[in-house]
Amino acid sequence: MGSAVIGLATSVVGSATSQRFLHRWATVADIPVISAIMDAAISELQRDYLTTAQIAASRELMGLDTRLIDDRTYLVIEIQAVGETSREIVGCGGWSKRKTLFGGNHTSGRDAALLDPARDAAPVRAMYTRPDWARQGIGRLVIELCETAAREAGFSRTQLMATLSGEPLYLACGYRPRERLDVDTSADITVPMIRMEKAI
Ligand SMILES: CC(C)(COP(=O)(O)OP(=O)(O)OC[C@H]1O[C@@H](n2cnc3c(N)ncnc32)[C@H](O)[C@@H]1OP(=O)(O)O)[C@@H](O)C(=O)NCCC(=O)NCCS
Repeated sequence: MGSAVIGLATSVVGSATSQRFLHRWATVADIPVISAIMDAAISELQRDYLTTAQIAASRELMGLDTRLIDDRTYLVIEIQAVGETSREIVGCGGWSKRKTLFGGNHTSGRDAALLDPARDAAPVRAMYTRPDWARQGIGRLVIELCETAAREAGFSRTQLMATLSGEPLYLACGYRPRERLDVDTSADITVPMIRMEKAI
């Protein structure tokens, strides 16, 4: 995929659900908007799955990894109203060629070592949809784009660490659970997560 605005998503993935959205690689200038979307999604879209205390604790395990932006493997999904030239970011997510499987800049246990596409699964990372745009196909579009990019980079498998909020999306996109974990946080509250994989 190109480095500037990529254009209508249909040019890459051809999915009917994607026709409303534009996508491009994120830049550092997008960080304030991306952070606001992550904050809102963490607070609102996990309510059906976690307690209030778990949602607060989950922030330690979630959020923006700016290395993905530096690597140009982090996408923003935008809308552009008919007749308007300005665009609005409504979702984000990415993939990685590095070992870290989940979490933001602040999450412990990170490893920036490069993966071997011939042997390793590429992580799908940091998927967030602005709550007022949930269930409109943004998450599915991001996954399709990430899988296409990972495949083009030589990977034949992807994996991710799903939140409970993310699990239905990943199941719908063909990911299979491999391991269920209760991840410890510094608040002494565990957060359930699921490692999932897919052949791409
Ligand atoms: C997970 C998340 C990114 C999903 O984004 P989304 O844009 O709403 O997902 P989509 O609209 O592409 O969903 C595609 C399909 O996934 C499934 N799905 C997604 N969210 C679902 C939900 N809450 N309940 C049931 N199924 C769901 C459905 O099959 C859906 O298709 P449908 O709407 O036609 O039934 C979003 O809920 C979110 O930001 N959650 C909070 C942050 C988070 O936990 N991120 C995941 C980190 S691993």
